[in-house]
Amino acid sequence: MNGQKILVTGGCGFIGSQFVKMQLERDESAQIINLDLLTYAGDPSNLGTWADSPRYTFVHGDIRDPACVDALVPGVDWVVHFAAESHVDRSTGTRAGEFVETNVLGTFVLLDAVKRLNPDAHFLQIGTDEVYGDVAAPGFPDESSRLEPSSPYSASKAGADQLALAFAITHGLDVRVSRCTNNYGAFQHPEKLIPLFITNALDGLALPLYDGGTQIRDWLRVSDHCHALRTIMEKGQAGEIYNVGANQDPERTNREITQMILDATGAPQSLIEDRQGLRPGHDQRYAVSSQKLRQLGWSPELDIESGIEETVRWYTDHRSWWEARKDESYRAYYAEHYGKSDP
Ligand code: NAD
Ligand code: DAU
Repeated sequence: MNGQKILVTGGCGFIGSQFVKMQLERDESAQIINLDLLTYAGDPSNLGTWADSPRYTFVHGDIRDPACVDALVPGVDWVVHFAAESHVDRSTGTRAGEFVETNVLGTFVLLDAVKRLNPDAHFLQIGTDEVYGDVAAPGFPDESSRLEPSSPYSASKAGADQLALAFAITHGLDVRVSRCTNNYGAFQHPEKLIPLFITNALDGLALPLYDGGTQIRDWLRVSDHCHALRTIMEKGQAGEIYNVGANQDPERTNREITQMILDATGAPQSLIEDRQGLRPGHDQRYAVSSQKLRQLGWSPELDIESGIEETVRWYTDHRSWWEARKDESYRAYYAEHYGKSDP
């Protein structure tokens, strides 16, 4: 597994940047090419000093552009495909088409290039547990469970997974699909629940808690996700799907997560603002069985209480990082989505 040349897509985003840094650090002979369009969600500075490594190459380009992708695919051992439009709330309005184009068409362009130019390369499709849709308690879908995506985001990710698996069956590519639960940790864009609520709490701003806050997500620290991806690359099998989940016990509601953030920041309860109707099709519960991956030796290291405290410390210490992301275009999105301009 060491010494491999990996084409990472979306390596300037939250999870992709963590994966690139971990891979360069853990394998002194790894070479990484990072293809990223630098949308609002991507920033080369997320790589820190690893961007200066002679083993790292950044390519500013689009996964939907066959000419760009064709130039990068030959000669790599792996394609690890993170690039996506990733925020559910941005997919429920007028921008759903961008999700289909990036998440479905972009995945197709990559697969097609691998098929034509480097059919022996391995392809890791970074999927999401949201493809299983709203999971009634006490269910834990496994990898063969029915796909019932609720949002344009999750439907586009399901389409990408299915395309990748079809390329394995039709063209014999070594495709593996991971389906992970909600990630949190350093460098996550403040549009997502945990960083939004931490940064708003630090500034004494309202925490817009949707639909009573009774929903359940299975929060996993981003480094645990990246360890899981390495396990799939090292010990997984071609053509297989692997669920990745923290399997929090007890499961935590969004309101409980919000309370942890209030406790860790010292902000008052009065900041919680109950909001209705901001997420049409809001799934009540996500959960997966991650037994198949755990049988390969993976398990998460950090519990959610310690993880929230650690994440609050990071955002407290990196104010300039997240203030830069709450820029004019983010404020416009915030005003459009939340109906107020003060994130
Ligand atoms: P992110 O939004 O932080 O980053 C996405 C990255 O993709 C950005 O760097 C962006 O510039 C890049 N990108 C977008 N469109 C592109 C294009 N057309 N060409 C090249 N690059 C492009 O996303 P994230 O939260 O790091 O998620 C990464 C992947 O993991 C996604 O596929 C997402 O569906 C999946 N996932 C995320 C979570 C989570 O909790 N965040 C959980 C499970 C799976
Ligand atoms: O489950 C994996 C998925 O997790 C990934 O595939 C997605 O890329 C990632 O964004 C995440 O999706 P969610 O929709 O679950 O995450 P988000 O942080 O947007 O929302 C988490 C929960 O918090 C959800 O129930 C909606 C709620 N929420 C979210 C925001 C942004 C609020 O109550 N208020 C908010 O302002």
